[in-house]
Amino acid sequence: MPHDIEFVPYDDTFLSLSWGWLNDPEIKALTMTPDFSRAAQASWYDSLPGRGDYLIWGVMYASRPVGVCGLKGIADGTGEYWGYIGDKTCWGKGVGGRMVGFIEDQARALGLGGIWLRVWDGNSRARGLYEKLGYRLDRHADDVVLLKKPLH
Ligand SMILES: CC(C)(COP(=O)(O)OP(=O)(O)OC[C@H]1O[C@@H](n2cnc3c(N)ncnc32)[C@H](O)[C@@H]1OP(=O)(O)O)[C@@H](O)C(=O)NCCC(=O)NCCS
Repeated sequence: MPHDIEFVPYDDTFLSLSWGWLNDPEIKALTMTPDFSRAAQASWYDSLPGRGDYLIWGVMYASRPVGVCGLKGIADGTGEYWGYIGDKTCWGKGVGGRMVGFIEDQARALGLGGIWLRVWDGNSRARGLYEKLGYRLDRHADDVVLLKKPLH
C-alpha cells in the first residue's frame, strides 16, 4: 500500500482536472459518466457546499492531484461510494484501495451501517478491487453491477 496519499478538499484545481479526466473516452466508459457541459459541471460544483447528502475529496498521490472520491446519496444509514483515478499513470499502485478505505472510515464516522456502489460489469479492475475489499453482489441491472458491504 502506498503511503504518499492525501485526501484534500475538492477545489477548483480538481474541478478543472476532472473535466479532462471524465472526458477521456476510456475513463468516461469505465465510470459510466454521461455527457455533461461546462455549465452543468459548474452548477454541480456550486451546489456542493449546501449538500448534506454528498461528500467529496480530491486525491493527492506523491504531491500531485490524481483523482476524486466521495460518498453520495447519504440517507437512512447508508451511502454510495464513488471514485476514480484520473491520472492513468497511477492505476494499479494501490491508490484505489486507499480511496475505498478512506471513504469507509468517513462513513463509519457518520454512523453509517453500510456502503453500496455501482460498477460497469466490464470494469474488471474496479470490480476485482471492490470484491477483494469485501463488497458483494446485491443485484445486476443491465450492464451495471450493484455491490454492497456492511460496515462494522
Ligand atoms: C478502479 C480503480 C479505482 C482501481 O484503483 P487502482 O489503484 O488502480 O487499483 P489498486 O491498485 O488499488 O487495486 C488493484 C486491485 O484490483 C484488482 N484488479 C486489478 N486489475 C484487475 C483485473 N484486470 N481483473 C480483476 N481484478 C483486478 C486486484 O484485486 C488488485 O489487487 P492486487 O493488486 O492486490 O491484486 C482505478 O484503476 C481507476 O480509477 N480506474 C479508472 C476509473 C474507474 O474504473 N473507476 C471506478 C469506477 S466504479
